[in-house]
Amino acid sequence: MARIVAGIGSSHVPAIGAAIDNGKTEDPYWKRVFAGFEKSQAWMRELKPDVAIIVYNDHATAFSVEMIPTFALGCAADFPPADEGWGPRPVPVVEGYPALASHIAQSVILDEFDLTICNKMEVDHGMTVPMNLLFGKVDKNSHWPCPVIPLAVNVVMYPPPTGHRCYMLGKAIRRAVESYPEDLKVVIFGTGGLSHQISGPRAGLINSKWDKAFLDNLSKDPQKLVKIPHVDYMREAGAEGIEMVMWLIMRGALDDKVDEVYRFYTVPASNTAVGHIILANRPRAVRQRAPAHKAAKRATARKAKAPAKRAAARAKATLIRGR
Ligand SMILES: [Fe+2]
Repeated sequence: MARIVAGIGSSHVPAIGAAIDNGKTEDPYWKRVFAGFEKSQAWMRELKPDVAIIVYNDHATAFSVEMIPTFALGCAADFPPADEGWGPRPVPVVEGYPALASHIAQSVILDEFDLTICNKMEVDHGMTVPMNLLFGKVDKNSHWPCPVIPLAVNVVMYPPPTGHRCYMLGKAIRRAVESYPEDLKVVIFGTGGLSHQISGPRAGLINSKWDKAFLDNLSKDPQKLVKIPHVDYMREAGAEGIEMVMWLIMRGALDDKVDEVYRFYTVPASNTAVGHIILANRPRAVRQRAPAHKAAKRATARKAKAPAKRAAARAKATLIRGR
Protein backbone atom coordinates (compact mmCIF):
# COMPACT_ATOMS: atom_id res chain seq x y z
CA MET A 1 0.00 0.00 0.00
CA ALA A 2 1.10 3.59 -0.56
CA ARG A 3 1.83 5.63 2.56
CA ILE A 4 2.62 9.23 3.45
CA VAL A 5 5.86 9.19 5.38
CA ALA A 6 6.53 12.90 5.88
CA GLY A 7 5.25 16.41 5.40
CA ILE A 8 7.29 19.42 4.35
CA GLY A 9 6.32 23.04 4.87
CA SER A 10 8.17 25.61 2.78
CA SER A 11 7.80 29.20 1.66
CA HIS A 12 7.73 29.66 -2.11
CA VAL A 13 9.08 33.20 -2.54
CA PRO A 14 9.52 33.92 -6.28
CA ALA A 15 12.78 35.84 -5.72
CA ILE A 16 14.33 32.60 -4.39
CA GLY A 17 13.70 31.05 -7.81
CA ALA A 18 15.25 34.09 -9.50
CA ALA A 19 18.32 33.80 -7.22
CA ILE A 20 18.74 30.14 -8.25
CA ASP A 21 18.17 30.80 -11.93
CA ASN A 22 20.59 33.75 -12.00
CA GLY A 23 23.39 32.06 -10.04
CA LYS A 24 23.07 34.26 -6.95
CA THR A 25 22.80 31.56 -4.29
CA GLU A 26 26.28 32.37 -2.96
CA ASP A 27 25.59 36.11 -2.63
CA PRO A 28 25.67 37.10 1.07
CA TYR A 29 21.98 38.08 1.01
CA TRP A 30 20.88 34.71 -0.35
CA LYS A 31 23.50 32.42 1.16
CA ARG A 32 21.80 32.38 4.60
CA VAL A 33 18.49 31.40 2.96
CA PHE A 34 19.93 28.53 0.94
CA ALA A 35 22.13 27.36 3.85
CA GLY A 36 18.91 26.74 5.77
CA PHE A 37 17.85 24.10 3.25
CA GLU A 38 21.12 22.14 2.98
CA LYS A 39 20.15 19.64 5.70
CA SER A 40 16.71 19.27 4.14
CA GLN A 41 18.19 18.39 0.77
CA ALA A 42 20.42 15.76 2.40
CA TRP A 43 17.36 14.38 4.24
CA MET A 44 15.41 14.23 0.98
CA ARG A 45 18.25 12.47 -0.87
CA GLU A 46 18.31 9.88 1.90
CA LEU A 47 14.53 9.44 1.94
CA LYS A 48 14.15 9.00 -1.84
CA PRO A 49 10.37 9.40 -2.05
CA ASP A 50 8.54 7.68 -4.89
CA VAL A 51 6.14 10.56 -5.36
CA ALA A 52 5.47 14.02 -3.91
CA ILE A 53 2.08 15.69 -3.51
CA ILE A 54 2.71 19.44 -3.59
CA VAL A 55 0.07 21.81 -2.24
CA TYR A 56 0.63 25.31 -3.61
CA ASN A 57 -1.24 28.22 -5.06
CA ASP A 58 -1.28 29.41 -8.62
CA HIS A 59 -0.32 33.08 -9.03
CA ALA A 60 -2.54 33.97 -12.00
CA THR A 61 -0.70 31.75 -14.49
CA ALA A 62 -2.76 28.58 -14.96
CA PHE A 63 -5.84 30.35 -13.60
CA SER A 64 -6.95 33.96 -13.50
CA VAL A 65 -9.63 36.13 -11.95
CA GLU A 66 -11.92 34.70 -14.65
CA MET A 67 -11.78 31.22 -13.15
CA ILE A 68 -10.27 30.07 -9.85
CA PRO A 69 -11.05 26.62 -8.50
CA THR A 70 -10.83 26.26 -4.72
CA PHE A 71 -8.95 22.96 -4.97
CA ALA A 72 -7.48 21.77 -8.29
CA LEU A 73 -5.67 18.45 -8.60
CA GLY A 74 -3.14 17.89 -11.39
CA CYS A 75 -3.85 14.53 -13.02
CA ALA A 76 -1.74 15.11 -16.16
CA ALA A 77 1.38 13.21 -17.19
CA ASP A 78 3.44 16.40 -17.14
CA PHE A 79 3.25 20.00 -16.01
CA PRO A 80 5.39 22.53 -17.93
CA PRO A 81 6.84 25.50 -16.01
CA ALA A 82 4.68 28.58 -16.63
CA ASP A 83 5.80 31.86 -18.15
CA GLU A 84 5.27 34.30 -15.28
CA GLY A 85 6.16 37.36 -17.29
CA TRP A 86 9.88 36.87 -17.89
CA GLY A 87 9.83 33.46 -19.57
CA PRO A 88 9.40 30.03 -17.98
CA ARG A 89 11.90 29.16 -15.24
CA PRO A 90 14.82 27.06 -16.54
CA VAL A 91 13.70 23.95 -14.65
CA PRO A 92 12.64 20.55 -15.99
CA VAL A 93 9.04 19.83 -16.91
CA VAL A 94 7.41 18.37 -13.79
CA GLU A 95 6.43 14.77 -14.41
CA GLY A 96 3.09 13.75 -12.90
CA TYR A 97 1.72 10.46 -11.62
CA PRO A 98 -1.65 10.17 -13.39
CA ALA A 99 -2.57 6.77 -11.95
CA LEU A 100 -2.21 7.85 -8.32
CA ALA A 101 -3.61 11.34 -9.03
CA SER A 102 -6.76 9.86 -10.60
CA HIS A 103 -7.11 7.50 -7.66
CA ILE A 104 -6.81 10.45 -5.23
CA ALA A 105 -9.39 12.42 -7.26
CA GLN A 106 -11.85 9.52 -7.12
CA SER A 107 -11.29 8.76 -3.45
CA VAL A 108 -11.37 12.37 -2.27
CA ILE A 109 -14.39 13.38 -4.37
CA LEU A 110 -16.36 10.33 -3.22
CA ASP A 111 -15.24 11.37 0.28
CA GLU A 112 -17.22 14.60 -0.40
CA PHE A 113 -14.34 17.01 -1.15
CA ASP A 114 -15.08 18.43 -4.58
CA LEU A 115 -11.80 18.84 -6.46
CA THR A 116 -11.36 20.29 -9.93
CA ILE A 117 -9.56 17.76 -12.11
CA CYS A 118 -6.80 19.32 -14.23
CA ASN A 119 -5.58 17.21 -17.14
CA LYS A 120 -3.51 20.07 -18.52
CA MET A 121 -1.85 22.69 -16.33
CA GLU A 122 1.27 24.82 -16.22
CA VAL A 123 2.89 25.32 -12.83
CA ASP A 124 4.53 28.46 -11.46
CA HIS A 125 7.07 29.40 -8.78
CA GLY A 126 4.56 28.40 -6.09
CA MET A 127 5.47 24.81 -6.87
CA THR A 128 8.89 24.89 -8.55
CA VAL A 129 10.62 27.05 -5.90
CA PRO A 130 9.93 24.61 -3.00
CA MET A 131 10.98 21.79 -5.34
CA ASN A 132 14.35 23.50 -5.85
CA LEU A 133 14.70 24.17 -2.13
CA LEU A 134 14.15 20.51 -1.27
CA PHE A 135 15.57 18.75 -4.35
CA GLY A 136 18.31 21.24 -5.19
CA LYS A 137 19.02 22.80 -8.55
CA VAL A 138 18.10 20.47 -11.41
CA ASP A 139 19.23 21.00 -14.98
CA LYS A 140 16.44 22.04 -17.33
CA ASN A 141 17.15 19.06 -19.60
CA SER A 142 17.28 16.58 -16.75
CA HIS A 143 14.51 15.15 -14.52
CA TRP A 144 13.24 16.02 -11.06
CA PRO A 145 14.06 13.16 -8.66
CA CYS A 146 10.44 11.98 -8.38
CA PRO A 147 7.04 12.49 -10.00
CA VAL A 148 4.78 15.12 -8.50
CA ILE A 149 1.02 15.51 -8.04
CA PRO A 150 0.18 19.22 -7.84
CA LEU A 151 -2.73 20.42 -5.72
CA ALA A 152 -3.51 24.09 -6.39
CA VAL A 153 -5.51 25.94 -3.73
CA ASN A 154 -7.22 29.28 -4.15
CA VAL A 155 -5.71 31.72 -1.67
CA VAL A 156 -5.73 34.69 -4.03
CA MET A 157 -9.41 35.52 -4.37
CA TYR A 158 -11.89 35.75 -1.50
CA PRO A 159 -13.10 33.41 -0.12
CA PRO A 160 -10.24 30.94 0.27
CA PRO A 161 -11.00 27.67 2.04
CA THR A 162 -10.90 27.66 5.84
CA GLY A 163 -8.00 26.16 7.74
CA HIS A 164 -10.33 23.46 9.03
CA ARG A 165 -11.45 22.56 5.50
CA CYS A 166 -7.80 22.33 4.44
CA TYR A 167 -6.91 20.14 7.42
CA MET A 168 -9.81 17.78 6.72
CA LEU A 169 -8.87 17.60 3.03
CA GLY A 170 -5.41 16.49 4.16
CA LYS A 171 -7.04 13.64 6.06
CA ALA A 172 -9.05 12.67 2.96
CA ILE A 173 -5.87 12.70 0.86
CA ARG A 174 -4.22 10.42 3.36
CA ARG A 175 -7.15 7.98 3.17
CA ALA A 176 -6.85 8.10 -0.61
CA VAL A 177 -3.12 7.41 -0.59
CA GLU A 178 -3.48 4.56 1.88
CA SER A 179 -6.11 2.88 -0.29
CA TYR A 180 -3.78 2.84 -3.31
CA PRO A 181 -2.43 -0.68 -3.70
CA GLU A 182 1.04 0.10 -5.06
CA ASP A 183 3.82 0.19 -2.46
CA LEU A 184 4.84 3.87 -2.65
CA LYS A 185 6.67 6.18 -0.30
CA VAL A 186 4.84 9.52 -0.53
CA VAL A 187 5.78 12.94 0.82
CA ILE A 188 3.41 15.89 0.93
CA PHE A 189 4.40 19.57 0.75
CA GLY A 190 2.47 22.55 2.10
CA THR A 191 3.86 25.74 0.59
CA GLY A 192 3.49 29.51 0.79
CA GLY A 193 3.85 32.11 3.51
CA LEU A 194 4.99 32.75 6.05
CA SER A 195 3.97 36.27 7.07
CA HIS A 196 4.14 38.79 4.24
CA GLN A 197 2.20 41.51 2.54
CA ILE A 198 3.22 42.69 -0.90
CA SER A 199 1.08 45.78 -1.40
CA GLY A 200 -0.90 48.48 0.36
CA PRO A 201 0.02 50.57 3.42
CA ARG A 202 1.23 47.51 5.31
CA ALA A 203 3.51 46.26 2.49
CA GLY A 204 6.59 44.58 3.97
CA LEU A 205 4.76 43.37 7.10
CA ILE A 206 6.49 40.47 8.82
CA ASN A 207 5.36 38.99 12.15
CA SER A 208 8.00 36.56 13.41
CA LYS A 209 6.19 35.92 16.71
CA TRP A 210 3.10 34.75 14.83
CA ASP A 211 5.17 32.68 12.38
CA LYS A 212 7.09 30.88 15.11
CA ALA A 213 3.92 30.12 17.07
CA PHE A 214 2.41 28.74 13.83
CA LEU A 215 5.41 26.42 13.35
CA ASP A 216 5.26 25.32 17.01
CA ASN A 217 1.57 24.47 16.77
CA LEU A 218 1.95 22.86 13.37
CA SER A 219 4.38 20.47 14.96
CA LYS A 220 2.73 19.85 18.34
CA ASP A 221 -0.86 21.11 18.40
CA PRO A 222 -2.37 21.56 14.92
CA GLN A 223 -5.89 21.64 16.39
CA LYS A 224 -5.12 25.18 17.59
CA LEU A 225 -4.37 26.24 14.01
CA VAL A 226 -7.49 24.83 12.37
CA LYS A 227 -9.64 27.25 14.38
CA ILE A 228 -7.85 30.40 13.19
CA PRO A 229 -10.23 32.55 11.07
CA HIS A 230 -9.11 34.25 7.86
CA VAL A 231 -9.22 37.68 9.45
CA ASP A 232 -6.55 36.66 11.97
CA TYR A 233 -4.19 35.54 9.19
CA MET A 234 -4.78 38.83 7.36
CA ARG A 235 -4.31 40.98 10.45
CA GLU A 236 -1.36 39.13 11.99
CA ALA A 237 0.46 37.67 8.98
CA GLY A 238 -0.43 40.15 6.22
CA ALA A 239 -2.72 39.84 3.22
CA GLU A 240 -0.60 37.10 1.63
CA GLY A 241 -0.11 35.31 4.97
CA ILE A 242 -3.37 33.52 4.17
CA GLU A 243 -1.18 31.16 2.08
CA MET A 244 -0.38 29.45 5.37
CA VAL A 245 -3.73 27.62 5.34
CA MET A 246 -2.16 25.39 2.67
CA TRP A 247 0.26 24.02 5.25
CA LEU A 248 -2.76 22.60 7.08
CA ILE A 249 -3.53 20.27 4.16
CA MET A 250 -0.04 18.84 4.60
CA ARG A 251 -0.49 18.61 8.37
CA GLY A 252 -3.89 16.93 8.09
CA ALA A 253 -2.33 14.20 5.95
CA LEU A 254 0.07 13.25 8.76
CA ASP A 255 -0.39 11.42 12.04
CA ASP A 256 -1.70 13.40 15.02
CA LYS A 257 1.67 13.02 16.69
CA VAL A 258 4.72 13.53 14.49
CA ASP A 259 8.45 13.94 14.87
CA GLU A 260 9.85 17.33 13.95
CA VAL A 261 12.89 16.45 11.88
CA TYR A 262 14.05 19.95 11.06
CA ARG A 263 13.03 23.59 11.15
CA PHE A 264 14.43 26.77 9.61
CA TYR A 265 13.21 30.34 9.80
CA THR A 266 14.76 33.50 8.48
CA VAL A 267 13.71 37.05 7.57
CA PRO A 268 13.55 38.55 5.12
CA ALA A 269 13.83 36.96 1.71
CA SER A 270 12.60 39.55 -0.73
CA ASN A 271 9.85 40.99 1.53
CA THR A 272 8.76 37.68 3.06
CA ALA A 273 9.47 35.61 6.15
CA VAL A 274 10.87 32.26 5.03
CA GLY A 275 9.65 29.29 7.05
CA HIS A 276 10.50 25.66 6.58
CA ILE A 277 9.70 22.54 8.57
CA ILE A 278 9.96 18.80 8.08
CA LEU A 279 7.56 16.58 10.03
CA ALA A 280 7.79 12.81 9.88
CA ASN A 281 5.23 10.18 10.72
CA ARG A 282 6.51 7.81 13.33
CA PRO A 283 7.28 4.33 12.05
CA ARG A 284 4.34 2.12 12.81
CA ALA A 285 5.25 -0.54 15.37
CA VAL A 286 4.26 -4.04 14.39
CA ARG A 287 2.44 -5.37 17.45
CA GLN A 288 3.69 -8.81 18.28
CA ARG A 289 1.54 -11.24 20.21
CA ALA A 290 3.18 -12.59 23.36
CA PRO A 291 3.79 -16.32 23.31
CA ALA A 292 0.80 -18.26 24.75
CA HIS A 293 2.54 -19.39 27.95
CA LYS A 294 3.60 -15.79 28.79
CA ALA A 295 0.08 -14.45 28.15
CA ALA A 296 -1.40 -17.13 30.44
CA LYS A 297 1.14 -16.29 33.17
CA ARG A 298 0.24 -12.56 32.95
CA ALA A 299 -3.51 -13.32 33.14
CA THR A 300 -2.98 -15.44 36.28
CA ALA A 301 -0.92 -12.65 37.89
CA ARG A 302 -3.65 -10.09 37.08
CA LYS A 303 -6.31 -12.35 38.63
CA ALA A 304 -4.25 -12.81 41.77
CA LYS A 305 -3.84 -9.04 42.20
CA ALA A 306 -7.51 -8.24 41.57
CA PRO A 307 -8.96 -8.90 45.10
CA ALA A 308 -6.18 -6.85 46.75
CA LYS A 309 -6.79 -3.98 44.30
CA ARG A 310 -10.55 -4.06 44.95
CA ALA A 311 -10.00 -4.05 48.74
CA ALA A 312 -7.66 -1.05 48.45
CA ALA A 313 -10.23 0.84 46.33
CA ARG A 314 -12.98 0.06 48.88
CA ALA A 315 -10.78 1.31 51.74
CA LYS A 316 -9.99 4.53 49.83
CA ALA A 317 -13.70 5.14 49.11
CA THR A 318 -14.54 4.66 52.82
CA LEU A 319 -11.82 7.14 53.78
CA ILE A 320 -13.11 9.74 51.34
CA ARG A 321 -16.72 9.30 52.50
CA GLY A 322 -15.60 9.54 56.12
CA ARG A 323 -13.96 13.00 55.60
FE1 LIG B 1 2.59 32.74 -3.17
